Amino acid sequence: MKRIEIKQLLESPQIGAEVNVKGWVRSRRGNKDVNFIALNDGSTIKNVQVVVDLTMFSEESLKEVTTGSCLSVVGKLVESQGKGQVVEIQASDIEIYGTADSLTYPLQKKGHSLEYLRGIAHLRPRTNTFGAIFRIRHNMAMAIHTYFHEHGYFYFHTPLITASDAEGAGQMFQVTTKNLYRLKKNEDGKIDYSDDFFGKMTSLTVSGQLEGELGALALGKIYTFGPTFRAENSNTPRHLAEFWMIEPEVAFIDKAELMDLEEDFLKYCVNWALKNCKDDLQFLNDMFDKGLIERLQSVVNTEFVRLPYTEGIEILQQAIKSGKKFEFSCNWGDDLASEHERYLVEEHFGKPVIMTDYSKEIKAFYMKINDDGKTVQGTDVLFPTIGEIIGGSVREESYDKLMQEIERRGIPMKDMWWYLDTRRYGSAPHAGFGLGFERLMLFVTGMQNIRDVIPFPRTPKSAEF
Ligand code: 4AD
Ligand code: MG
Repeated sequence: MKRIEIKQLLESPQIGAEVNVKGWVRSRRGNKDVNFIALNDGSTIKNVQVVVDLTMFSEESLKEVTTGSCLSVVGKLVESQGKGQVVEIQASDIEIYGTADSLTYPLQKKGHSLEYLRGIAHLRPRTNTFGAIFRIRHNMAMAIHTYFHEHGYFYFHTPLITASDAEGAGQMFQVTTKNLYRLKKNEDGKIDYSDDFFGKMTSLTVSGQLEGELGALALGKIYTFGPTFRAENSNTPRHLAEFWMIEPEVAFIDKAELMDLEEDFLKYCVNWALKNCKDDLQFLNDMFDKGLIERLQSVVNTEFVRLPYTEGIEILQQAIKSGKKFEFSCNWGDDLASEHERYLVEEHFGKPVIMTDYSKEIKAFYMKINDDGKTVQGTDVLFPTIGEIIGGSVREESYDKLMQEIERRGIPMKDMWWYLDTRRYGSAPHAGFGLGFERLMLFVTGMQNIRDVIPFPRTPKSAEF
């Protein structure tokens, strides 16, 4: 008999049909006449109720049907007599695929804290909460690919192993096959990488942008969507050492068009969640964050503020004058801390802000410098509850200006000749941005900790699972 997924079974119930469902027991309760098993197979947050008539099954045969065990159930689909569900299955046959000893199974029926569940990341997908989060995560990935595909972008695969570290976005993880205890050194005591696998020092990438630019200057519009790695030792609820980034790069657009793209794209993704993840969002809304769905709707329906950095600093200075206390300073030239970003978004404007034209000293070398010589055409998107969700910019397309900046910063360009070639041959105005996938996930799910929106988080001192 062909198994039916619970999602499909509940969406179009064939009353009277003989069905086969397979899944994990969420709970079992009952009395001496009848037992009720709540079964979930991951296809939806909803369980199906299996009714077991104890004149047909012995107590003994049900002994191993405990929370966490895995079953295949055959039975007749009928209208439910009880409250809480429309249909239920009257079991005629139950096969136990895998038991879950109730003395040792780490997930019990009662709710567990998110922190406890982090310690059992191998099992937490079986909870309602993480089932919802990971179904939403899949949906966000589909939203992203669909958006770009429908808008004529090409998915461009950039390498994870790189020999350049010119992005300067964070500390890198080295990649080597060398025996670290017996490193070959040259005469001045430096490691001799000619001996190593790639013949030079290599690391895991912090961003696909530089190669993405190569793609955009040939295919016109590309995006990347892959893992990135940053060894910054920041143990915060918003940083991972391994996270996924989406980086579109577009030829022939200017700053205003870049901001339009950022806004349109984010709204599309949030709207996708509202349309396609209703049950899971409702669950998270009810369980954790009563304002979640409303917040998502408000982002979709509001126009983002576009705010030059200099004006942003003035607003923050004004706030300080009126008694607002921040932990970090915010004078012109300072990088904004998340507390500043959130003040602007949540308290001052009450909507997402695209901040532009930052002081060049706090931004990467490739951003296009404005005529004032002091600011660059960065376009970061700041979101409620998150702070920075997107980092983007117009790129400097002039070879001379770019080289001037590279020299001023003393960036080693030996391994970056290929990047400079884009400015040497057929250079073009272009722009792009990077969206942190898990930051988007934080926003869409309302979760507070980035460790709870990726199946197996990598953070300082933590690489279990
Ligand atoms: O602002 P960032 O560093 O920008 C870049 O990497 C550019 N190359 C992007 C581009 O223009 N193509 O990072 C982009 C986004 C941030 O806005 C944030 O959402 C996310 O990546 N991010 C992180 N997410 C989780 N953990 C970390 N450690 C992150 N660092 C950045
Ligand atoms: Mg940034």
